[in-house]
Amino acid sequence: MTSPAPHTATLRHAATPALPDGIATPAFILDVAALKRNLATAARIKAETGVKILLATKAWAMPAAFPLMRDTLDGTTASGLYEARLGREEFGKEVHVYAPAYTQEEVSALTKVADHIYFNTPSQIARFLPSVYAAGKKAGIRVNPGFSMATLGGDLYNPCAPGSRFGTPADQLDAVPWDNIHTFHTHALCEATDQGSVGLIEHVGKKFAHYLKRVSAVNFGGGHFVNKPGYDVGRLIAALKTFRAEFPNLEVVLEPGAGLVVDTGYLAARVLDIMHNGPDQIAILDTSASTHMPDVLEVPYRPEIIGAGEAGEKEHTYILGGKTCMTGDVIGTYSFDSPLQHGTRLIFTDMMQYSFVKTTTFNGTPLPDLAILDEDGGFRVIKRFGYETFRDRLG
Ligand SMILES: Cc1ncc(COP(=O)(O)O)c(C=O)c1O
Repeated sequence: MTSPAPHTATLRHAATPALPDGIATPAFILDVAALKRNLATAARIKAETGVKILLATKAWAMPAAFPLMRDTLDGTTASGLYEARLGREEFGKEVHVYAPAYTQEEVSALTKVADHIYFNTPSQIARFLPSVYAAGKKAGIRVNPGFSMATLGGDLYNPCAPGSRFGTPADQLDAVPWDNIHTFHTHALCEATDQGSVGLIEHVGKKFAHYLKRVSAVNFGGGHFVNKPGYDVGRLIAALKTFRAEFPNLEVVLEPGAGLVVDTGYLAARVLDIMHNGPDQIAILDTSASTHMPDVLEVPYRPEIIGAGEAGEKEHTYILGGKTCMTGDVIGTYSFDSPLQHGTRLIFTDMMQYSFVKTTTFNGTPLPDLAILDEDGGFRVIKRFGYETFRDRLG
């Protein structure tokens, strides 16, 4: 599994979302109107090409919002047993799963909740195919296509980087028992433009035609950043149509995560204190990069804040720091039109993908609320975490 993240976004929410003044912070807030806008793109791709689209729950999973997605999407794709179970119990449509390796216990449990189980290597297939077939489920093989146009983080998020553990390399594919394989699975993109999606589809069609003729479906993975401004969905649709014309017997599946939830929500935070160190003004927030936005440090990237500019661009510049003990728990340096003060609310944008699914309680930091901003302006906190969440993880 790769773990892509947000980035370098062209800001979609130039205006402050209509959040009630008194909401508790920190809070991750799903914007339903934005999610519906993104789902319309998925609906268009499906309607024009006949492909299946699954939500990769590793990127974002908010069961309270699954009813909004169920009519559009075909199901969910998981990174392991717990996500697969979540897909089965909370989404309730097709469940696919891929992991670089499974234990026998996992496969036995997965056959009860997943419909499609993708394996990484011929040896995993040899070990587990009998269990999958005995349970009447479908097996797939993840192939390393030797092609990637991941736009993020260099080799950190490139599933086809040298030495990658993801997928069977092309030179070992003859060891796959193709007659027992339902799906040719490949995941090679990360925050890819239409150029990446089209390139992958064309590359797979050309390089692996021989194997594609022996399976029933192809899964082109995730990383298709279909709702990112600048992504030409028409080009993806054209490539999928061409591919389907060439392989009319193949079902085609896409399993994006980030591309379905990019720009669909916020992290609302507040300033707890302002301090000075030499020439620097530092604002300490009730949120943290390390615990609430780990990708800020991991990718790394600079999240957008509504109304804020680059350091020095506006009159008042601050280093925004988190609450934890980690020196590097710094979100970045931003400038504002007015001075920040105790209680000033800051709204980080594009905070649904790979955000709250990755939070931690390091330092005993409380987790942000999870909330939903409805289309009519209604605001609902759907989950508030307490001490118990922190305590439970410590055994
Ligand atoms: C196998 C697989 N499928 C789908 C995805 C979802 O990718 P994205 O969220 O970039 O669309 C990932 C991400 O790591 C993945 O590893």
